[in-house]
Amino acid sequence: MGHEMSSSGNSSTVPDSLISADDGRRYWSGIDADVNGMLGGYPGVSRIDLRTSGSFLAKLGLGRTKGQKNVKRAVEGGAGIGRITQGLLLEVAETVDVVEPIAKFTAALEGRPGVGRIYNVGLEEWRPEEGATYDLVWNQWCVGHLTDLQLAAYLRRCGAALSVGDDGKTKGVIVVKENLSTAGRDLFDELDSSVTRQDETFRQIFEKAGLSIVRTELQHGFPEDLYPVRMYALRPKKT
Ligand SMILES: C[S@@+](CC[C@H](N)C(=O)[O-])C[C@H]1O[C@@H](n2cnc3c(N)ncnc32)[C@H](O)[C@@H]1O
Repeated sequence: MGHEMSSSGNSSTVPDSLISADDGRRYWSGIDADVNGMLGGYPGVSRIDLRTSGSFLAKLGLGRTKGQKNVKRAVEGGAGIGRITQGLLLEVAETVDVVEPIAKFTAALEGRPGVGRIYNVGLEEWRPEEGATYDLVWNQWCVGHLTDLQLAAYLRRCGAALSVGDDGKTKGVIVVKENLSTAGRDLFDELDSSVTRQDETFRQIFEKAGLSIVRTELQHGFPEDLYPVRMYALRPKKT
């Protein structure tokens, strides 16, 4: 989840052009398959992270209705070991598909009740199965591995795979929960070959993906040396 404030590339370099999928995967292949590994040495934030995310989902109407899970199918992008799938998404969803390029991270999820398909590919390569519809697409601390163009294209694909209600309106929702750069520009992190974006850049990318923000909130309660973290709930724009 990167908290280093270091960055490289001079100010005229577009930070996301420095992203290397190979370098990113090489970095993550060397990381332990545990919560400490997933959270860059801050395993203690997981509890409050999951609690805040659960409240955010509840405000979107996603959770339990009369004790019953009201999300039929969700997918977690960049799931790692399934910290969020197991700690939150399976609480609200009957089935959770998982997208994660590093197979050793998802090995322990195979055959777990409620875990659906496991796709060991990057989000830039992932395509929802023909005819699949999702009530929820959760992406956290992973989209910095995609270039701006890849991210906009991925989000557009997700938007097209959201479930539609009986009234013909999009019912499903995409959530992006990510660190924010407050340096006045996006920052490239050499360590894991990812980009930490500014709020402004995220909004431009959502716009390019044809999505509008239906709800957004800052995470509170994290240690002060971490980047601020924002949750965005997104749906395709009405045409
Ligand atoms: C900081 S961890 C976060 C894992 C999980 N989202 C969580 O919050 O616990 C980043 C994850 O992104 C994955 N990742 C790296 N490149 C990716 C890509 N191109 N597409 C999707 N996930 C990627 C890594 O393998 C790693 O599991």
